[in-house]
Amino acid sequence: MTVKYLPRPLSAAALLVFAAVQAATAQTAAPFHFDAATNTFRVDAADTTYMIGVNENHQLQTLYWGKRLSAKDHFARAKSSPGTSAFDPSEGSTPQEFVGWGGVLYVEPDLKVTFPDGNRDLVLKYQSERIEGDQLFLSLKDVSREVYVTLAYRMDAETGILRRSAEIENRTGAPFTIEQVSAGTWNIPRGTDYKLRYLTGRWAAEWNVQEQEIHGGKTTLESRRGSTGSQNNPWFAISHAEANETSGDVWFGALGWSGSWQITVEQDTLQQVRVNGGPNAFDFAYRLQKGERFTTPYFYGGFSSTGIGEASRKMHRLEVNTLLPRPSGSALPKLRPVLYNSWEATEFKVDEPGQIALAEKAASLGVERFVMDDGWFGQRNSDHAGLGDWYVNKQKFPHGLKPLIDKVHSLNMEFGLWVEPEMVNPDSDLYRAHPDWVLNFTGRPRSEGRNQLMLNLARPDVRAYVYGVLDKLLSENDIAFLKWDYNRNWSEPGWPAVPPEDQKKVYVDFTRNFYGILAELRAKHPSVEIESCSGGGSRVDLGVMQFTDEVWPSDNTDAFDRLSIQNGFTYAYTPGTMMAWVTDSPTWVNQRTLSLEYRFLSSMQGSLGIGANLNHWTPTDFDTARALVAQYKSIRETIQRGALYRLVSPEHQSEESVTESVSRDGKQAVTFAFLHSSTELYPYPRIHLRGLESDAMYAIKPFAGKLAADTPLTASGSYWMNRGVDLQLRGDFQAAAFTLERLD
Ligand code: GLA
Repeated sequence: MTVKYLPRPLSAAALLVFAAVQAATAQTAAPFHFDAATNTFRVDAADTTYMIGVNENHQLQTLYWGKRLSAKDHFARAKSSPGTSAFDPSEGSTPQEFVGWGGVLYVEPDLKVTFPDGNRDLVLKYQSERIEGDQLFLSLKDVSREVYVTLAYRMDAETGILRRSAEIENRTGAPFTIEQVSAGTWNIPRGTDYKLRYLTGRWAAEWNVQEQEIHGGKTTLESRRGSTGSQNNPWFAISHAEANETSGDVWFGALGWSGSWQITVEQDTLQQVRVNGGPNAFDFAYRLQKGERFTTPYFYGGFSSTGIGEASRKMHRLEVNTLLPRPSGSALPKLRPVLYNSWEATEFKVDEPGQIALAEKAASLGVERFVMDDGWFGQRNSDHAGLGDWYVNKQKFPHGLKPLIDKVHSLNMEFGLWVEPEMVNPDSDLYRAHPDWVLNFTGRPRSEGRNQLMLNLARPDVRAYVYGVLDKLLSENDIAFLKWDYNRNWSEPGWPAVPPEDQKKVYVDFTRNFYGILAELRAKHPSVEIESCSGGGSRVDLGVMQFTDEVWPSDNTDAFDRLSIQNGFTYAYTPGTMMAWVTDSPTWVNQRTLSLEYRFLSSMQGSLGIGANLNHWTPTDFDTARALVAQYKSIRETIQRGALYRLVSPEHQSEESVTESVSRDGKQAVTFAFLHSSTELYPYPRIHLRGLESDAMYAIKPFAGKLAADTPLTASGSYWMNRGVDLQLRGDFQAAAFTLERLD
């Protein structure tokens, strides 16, 4: 088994976790076929076919990626593109799977290296193939030097999503430096009317869906921030201009990497659109010693012939079926418990009696997991001090965490805790003892963000410290959940302790150590779950999702703003991972007042949490919340594991938005509808459901808001999808929700 991009050595226990994940995924992969007569490789799954050929120049060429072909279709031997002139010869215009920078190449390369003698020419030729179980491995080698590249491919049988990575091996007998590396190139069929969708954002405003036409030139989606970031998210979708939510061909992909990354979308001189991605090439260098190998992150890519909505559902299925952590022996990740978090109620003012009072109130609502946020450790009374000192603050918790944890357990809830392990405040014991542990350039200023510096997790001693404090915390306390935060981006990314030629390895080694710590903690404490938070949604990607059960999409908890934030999130990521708290109103974000019911319905579109100050709630608030928490428990499997249909998008300042989730067994559908503000007596648009069985009968039941008076109690799937449902929604910031239960 090859373990990708994890630091070596990993403990045996951590490897076991990966073995379990790999075993779970192994059952669902599609087989590759090699046709020796034409030197072509083919894989088919779901509605997708992918084909690779070896051309007369011994290059690996994408032959086809798109809607599934007939088994009777055979491709001729690959033939390179002739190019157009001396200015644009064949190398650049042939749609290669993986291309080194060398020879005549002007498109974005997949690999660029510098050898110690100054030579920077790398021309990779196909060598051999290996089909091992459900994976295809294709080997390339430089024309003269002992540089080997092995491309690994695996296609998920249920979704047709292909997972790719590349392994670079140095057998030259001397080190060389990788200056740019990608998992491979996705070649989109030649076309001139393509549109690119991607995600942008910033703190408290993550997950905006952007659309732009693809013309000649290049668009780079990236993070230079050291981690995933929210300025762009490592996801893309490319479609013909007319494609929309429900129809049209869509090619989409996501990079599984939580360090600085880049995805380039390039239309070359012959209007071929190609996409590649990997660690960000900006300020990048990775010196590969002789005998060493470098494995890229996974780049996942899929195809939908039925619009962008199906592209998202495929991503969701891949994540739920194969990627997210799951208990050993279980096919699916655990359902998310209803959670309470104290942050917005108390901020840093946490103490034993205050947390117990909140826990009692939370338990009375049916909350299943109580999470204490920031402020419980070191001298952490504000964001100016304490990060790095992961021992319990004795003034706030004189008897340690045990009395609070015991109390939470006695209320039938699990206990969770906030940590931010990669950071340090200059005002902390840790920094006073180890000022050299942070990212820095010798003699230069150390820029702070939220009064904190970045620990250099690439350093073995820092990695050991971080693992040690977390392992101790989890060993000494009965903790079921960590909210793992990360509240700034990098600056001055120096690593003075290693030779200058190795200092830029920080970008990769930091991220690998982050994953390594997560993997080892999970292996040693298998029942502990983890949330990836980064001041909101700044570290959400398919890399971290292999180790974390849920993510925090945004610090913006305004239930109306959240509709757009959550909508954008679902383009790439499953609602099952999307933690969404009900917080107080008016919100700190917009001073907007929203009803408790509206706030609940917005949060119920994901994994439900409550983050309000329960000390301020009225008995009526408790009654409303209790009923909606109970309702959520009866629909959460549908929301978290079902198929999501974005029926009406909140994008482009829409007055309305509607989502529907259909359970895996098709027995339940849940619909949420929101109205910004009605005008001039216009009725709410009719809702046409999707994903139901035409002839099956379904009973409709509202649990918030009102259906139109003429709505039948039961009707066929065909009725609900074609005739549709009318709601009585009028006013400002109104919401309604209903279920459909199939009558078997
Ligand atoms: C970040 C998180 C918040 C909260 C604070 C605590 O901003 O996103 O949810 O945990 O840190 O300092």
